[in-house]
Amino acid sequence: MAILDQVLQQIDDDLPQSLDRLFALLRIESISTDPAYRERCAAAADWLAGELTTLGFDAAARPTPGHPMVVAHDQTAPAGPHVLFYGHYDVQPVDPLTEWNSPPFEPKIETAADGSKRIRARGAADDKGQLMTFVEACRAWKAVAGKLPVNVSILFEGEEESGSPSLEPFLKANAGELRCDVALVCDTGMWSRERPAITTMLRGLVGEEMTITAADRDLHSGGYGSAARNPIHVLADVIAALHEKDGAIAIPGFYDGVGEIPAEVKAIWDSLDFDGAEFLGDIGLSIPAGEKGRSVLEMIWSRPTLEVNGIFGGYTGDGFKTVIASKASAKVSFRLVGDQDPDRLRDLFQDFVRKQVPADCKVEFKSHGGSPALRLPFDGPFLQKARGALAAEWGEDPAIVGAGGSIPVVGAFKRLLGMDSLMIGYGLDDDRIHSPNEKYELSSFHGGIRSWARVIAAFAE
Ligand code: BES
Ligand code: ZN
Repeated sequence: MAILDQVLQQIDDDLPQSLDRLFALLRIESISTDPAYRERCAAAADWLAGELTTLGFDAAARPTPGHPMVVAHDQTAPAGPHVLFYGHYDVQPVDPLTEWNSPPFEPKIETAADGSKRIRARGAADDKGQLMTFVEACRAWKAVAGKLPVNVSILFEGEEESGSPSLEPFLKANAGELRCDVALVCDTGMWSRERPAITTMLRGLVGEEMTITAADRDLHSGGYGSAARNPIHVLADVIAALHEKDGAIAIPGFYDGVGEIPAEVKAIWDSLDFDGAEFLGDIGLSIPAGEKGRSVLEMIWSRPTLEVNGIFGGYTGDGFKTVIASKASAKVSFRLVGDQDPDRLRDLFQDFVRKQVPADCKVEFKSHGGSPALRLPFDGPFLQKARGALAAEWGEDPAIVGAGGSIPVVGAFKRLLGMDSLMIGYGLDDDRIHSPNEKYELSSFHGGIRSWARVIAAFAE
């Protein structure tokens, strides 16, 4: 039996143990944005470094001012390229906890109505299940061949879900060690349950928080109501002013640098037969909310957004309280496309908001990072080899797609290390990432492991 077939057989035979290991990682509550979970993030990093050391990697969890980076190397391949695999071990907060049907950090296998199986836990799809597909592929290669077919370095980040504050300094400080021929980034999705995908476009991201202060204290709403300005009303007016009635973003200059997608990309996207009605129908909606005249696929892949992610102020506890709060806040994010400049957009946003706020109120801003949009080549030699490997595994040519989400590391790899990335992942749109009841299909996990085994074999040829 050819060696790759033996590796694939080994992956199939070892699947129950692979799941046990994934479950051990999923049990660690590595929520990066909440300081209460700092020690759990360190525990996840240590667990990964331990696993990789067991596999023969030279691996360590390295401290940063935030959460540790796991770095590992195995450079024993006789020839072939050197790849850097990237994933993130941190996860999003689990709130609202009451919406979960089972505890988020007690992973379990569920069987769907159609008989398919899925892994249910926070981080199952984003990104622990995905990063473990690569680790398990390496394990199978080592078990069968005693070595990997290509030289492999690994970088696991613990701050991806909270704006990656330590990433750039870490890449700069370790550029020589981390620069490889290509980066493999496993944090994206498939086109469908049966058809794999390679992602070549990502949107950028800007995060902003605004707090409006009116009176210098909370007030009785009978004693002061209508005379004293209510900051929640001001905030609501500001938020309402951010969009036009036709769905466009109303901030002057916001669309500078957006541009239209190139004809060749449009032709590929048109051939995908995306069904916008089905996409919205799956989440219980039917009316596209974005810019009039744009398709749903454009709205999520090639147009910018401005979304309010959270709004708070006043009394929100049980019962009722007649109060006019002193302050009201909102967390806002923009998704960027084309050449939109994160810093400029932040300035435009702040200017726009300041103009809406009455003279006797004040507004303060807190920034949560930013990264520009990204377009990768879709004809490189690594992409072509990966394409063949994925087609062999899934029986369908991978779709070349865009993604609505953001993965800051991909831009940083290009800018700081001069390295292109190949974005291959096995998530599905209905995985509920960032939301209660996150899941990862068993077919994604199993097929993902088999896919990486084939991809690194193809790179060695
Ligand atoms: N895995 C996602 C990015 C993603 C989502 C890619 C959907 C493709 C499709 C990633 O972990 C993520 O959520 N990133 C954040 C980045 C942010 C917090 C800096 C995002 O996009 O909101
Ligand atoms: Zn992710």
